[in-house]
Amino acid sequence: MTTLTQQSYAAKKFDLAGLHGISDQTLQVHFGLYEGYVKNTNLLNEQISEQIKAGTAAGANPHFAELTRRLGFEYNGMRLHEYYFGNLTKSAGGAPPAAVNDAFAANFGDFETWKKDFTATGALRGVGWAIAYQDPWTGRISNHWVTLHEDGNIAGFNPILVLDVWEHAFLLDYKPAERPKYIEAFFANIDWNVVSSRLTAPAPGH
Ligand SMILES: [Fe+2]
Repeated sequence: MTTLTQQSYAAKKFDLAGLHGISDQTLQVHFGLYEGYVKNTNLLNEQISEQIKAGTAAGANPHFAELTRRLGFEYNGMRLHEYYFGNLTKSAGGAPPAAVNDAFAANFGDFETWKKDFTATGALRGVGWAIAYQDPWTGRISNHWVTLHEDGNIAGFNPILVLDVWEHAFLLDYKPAERPKYIEAFFANIDWNVVSSRLTAPAPGH
């Protein structure tokens, strides 16, 4: 008989009450949505595990296929929210540390040019995420749009700064057309020390 070890995920807690321009009410709703992704990631893993145990894990089994296809949505929904909440702080202030500035400037020329591109990415039509990634092979920073949670993630790249631009992230505080105001509020709350800690030295043999 096959023995599978199950490790379930626990929702993390984020102490963010009192952000600038992102209300506590928005955060409470958002934490609830995040916890839903944690719950569903665990549920999918359990159900796939049961299929493996029962010997029904097969590509031609539509139930198994559907569960497996949903992994990308639920896992990324969980993990991207952890990056997003993790790169916010209620005691933000000051300029980004030199390591962040240098990393952004290396590819964009300067911080403001990077910020302009990141903000433009966050303003794309539709729901999704704006993510500044670092390529661990080269150290290069690039900004990307991720639709839903799973389309557009770059394999092997590390998320450095993650911005949620689904409407649930700001609709209680801003009108749908006011997404730029929300993005400015996001910038006012960034924990640049966390962003800095996510940077790694380039590792060509990675
Ligand atoms: Fe979200």
